[in-house]
Amino acid sequence: MNENSRKEISRTKSVASESAILVGVYLSDHLPEAVPLEELGGLAEAAGTQVVGKLIQRREAPDAATYLGKGKVQELATLAHAEMADVIFFDNDLSPGQTRNLEEATGLKVLDRSELILDIFASRAKTHESRLAVELAQLEYQMPRLKRMWTHLSRQGQGGVGLRGPGEKQLEVDRRLAEKRVTDLRKQLLTIESRRQREVSARREQMTVSLIGYTNAGKSTLLNALTGADVFTKDQLFATLDTRTRRWQLPSWGPVLLSDTVGFIRNLPHHLIASFRATLEEARQADLLLHVADASNPAALDQIAAAYSVLEEIGIQQKDMLLVLNKVDAMPDRVAVDGIMNRYPTAIPISARSGLGIPHLAVAVSETLSCGFLEIDVEMGVENGRMLAYLAAHGEVFSKTFDDARVLVHCRIPQQFLSRVESDGVVVRPHAGHNGRAK
Ligand code: GTP
Repeated sequence: MNENSRKEISRTKSVASESAILVGVYLSDHLPEAVPLEELGGLAEAAGTQVVGKLIQRREAPDAATYLGKGKVQELATLAHAEMADVIFFDNDLSPGQTRNLEEATGLKVLDRSELILDIFASRAKTHESRLAVELAQLEYQMPRLKRMWTHLSRQGQGGVGLRGPGEKQLEVDRRLAEKRVTDLRKQLLTIESRRQREVSARREQMTVSLIGYTNAGKSTLLNALTGADVFTKDQLFATLDTRTRRWQLPSWGPVLLSDTVGFIRNLPHHLIASFRATLEEARQADLLLHVADASNPAALDQIAAAYSVLEEIGIQQKDMLLVLNKVDAMPDRVAVDGIMNRYPTAIPISARSGLGIPHLAVAVSETLSCGFLEIDVEMGVENGRMLAYLAAHGEVFSKTFDDARVLVHCRIPQQFLSRVESDGVVVRPHAGHNGRAK
């Protein structure tokens, strides 16, 4: 394919409504999927494309120039031509050079897994924040690729005009403009992140629980089931890109804030995770994470492991966490559930759809949250109205006993508020029960 026709390939347009060929190269260390290229097919569908063909190759190592071997590249070009495909999706991550060589050899647009995920995020981003995050991730993904083209074109004396960046706004940008845009976007997102940090910490008075997990695990459905909310759920990857927070009246506990956020996926593009820091702030500051997994998916164990590794990447794996095995209603029998429980014995099987196991989940959540609480006796002067009001607002007051000018308050407060209670003229002790023993 010559240089001119190659430049026709527009990378700005979303792949939606195009016909796609899926390609996967399985290296020797690759664990096979139950259905080959199943997840890539799900991503292709989420991007709005129609899959018209698949091609798989097993190799010891990727080919440096084209990832696929030479013969397979030819086979791919023939298949794509016969099926009248518009685009090729690779399950593997390609280097800028490999993408370029494959596009030249096939005459079609080639997207690797990361770029496909970015395309889906771009089409789903609805809020100002998620749009900025996706634009930044797309630009950062494309910069090294654009640089390659700029060098190439400037050698031909064509300059940078006419090159396509991500999104309409990036049409006809030059390298400096793109770099400036990256700096601007980072600044704007940092501002949003610090604002979000302040907002979330201002709500620290209430316990917060965050739903995290693999995309399509049923997080939004569970949020709806627990809070009676009506948030959008859909059987597609990445239906949610933002964080929604609702009040959950936790039985025998009281209200807590429950939030649902963007879904994870294995090998989530690194730029994307970094760009979505502000969106993930809620989860980072949560008192408890509920890790929701789709137990009915044959790849459930891999998906659980992938979600743990994303948590590690965003630095929130140290939190209190309960593993919730959702969709047990869609599993053939108890043996299948036990298969996962053997690996994760403390996991809680539920069905967000039918309500099965939800009361058990609520008990487990209140018990875990209680671990961070202290039952104490606080003694102070009766005139200390501010402290009395503080205890009532931030804890649960069980009794008040007055004795002349002193009052003894028996209450339960979150551990993190203890330092604010311990102040001049206030005596704090672990609660002594009726038999006088400290609890
Ligand atoms: P993302 O936004 O992609 O992260 O998805 P999510 O984890 O929020 O999943 P969502 O709640 O949108 O549910 C995905 C699909 O799974 C929907 O079609 C739900 O109806 C379905 N689903 C959720 N919970 C259950 C369940 O308990 N049983 C069954 N059978 N299906 C469920």
